[in-house]
Amino acid sequence: MNCCGSCQDAGRIFGDGTAKRELRRYLKKGPNKSTRMLLDEIRRHDLNEWSLLDIGSGIGAIGFELLDDGVTRTVSVDASPAYVSVSRAEAARRGVADRSHHLVGDFTSLPDDIPVADVVTLDRVICCYPHMKKLVDQSTEKAGRLYGVVYPRDRWSVRAVMRIGNLVNILRRIDFRTYVHPPVEIDNRIRANGFMRVKLQRTIVWEIALYERAG
Ligand SMILES: C[S@@+](CC[C@H](N)C(=O)[O-])C[C@H]1O[C@@H](n2cnc3c(N)ncnc32)[C@H](O)[C@@H]1O
Repeated sequence: MNCCGSCQDAGRIFGDGTAKRELRRYLKKGPNKSTRMLLDEIRRHDLNEWSLLDIGSGIGAIGFELLDDGVTRTVSVDASPAYVSVSRAEAARRGVADRSHHLVGDFTSLPDDIPVADVVTLDRVICCYPHMKKLVDQSTEKAGRLYGVVYPRDRWSVRAVMRIGNLVNILRRIDFRTYVHPPVEIDNRIRANGFMRVKLQRTIVWEIALYERAG
């Protein structure tokens, strides 16, 4: 399987029904736990006039939250057209469409004209992409100050659940797969790209890490 197949099939996994359901859930209950934990750490900084690039943005919860906190502009990129369409409609409903820019596609294959942002986030995205190093290298390049990531913990239980999910996708002839990239390799790669980790938190399933550009 190549990453194009995986990203193209993201639209089958994260389709219209899923996107609308997640938006309803977000409007009712707010961001999910690991997203909230990442947001709380980002909010320790003065976000006034900052910009955000959210890669694998889903319905755009991180963008909506940070726009409320003083971020002036968000760019949301997702491989799922349904997520992007739901997120665009919600931005219009909130009256922030002029400050929210949306792109559909595999971030690593999009033209390299996305501007550097103060904050770059990948919330539960690295696990949806086969080539961790490529995704981390290209996304850290776009991070001016902060780089926030949520990725699965390397535990047998997490691997088992992902394996079952992947097996179901094979049976359904869907190319989309999930991956438990070793957290230490993710961390090494981010550090090699000029960042230092300022916070690491864990839930049963996820690691939530925030990095600052060194120097
Ligand atoms: C599990 S969802 C998480 C969505 C959102 N960040 C959240 O936490 O609710 C993963 C998302 O990443 C997107 N994705 C994965 N790899 C991507 C890539 N290379 N470029 C753009 N989007 C990607 C998928 O389309 C999917 O919407």
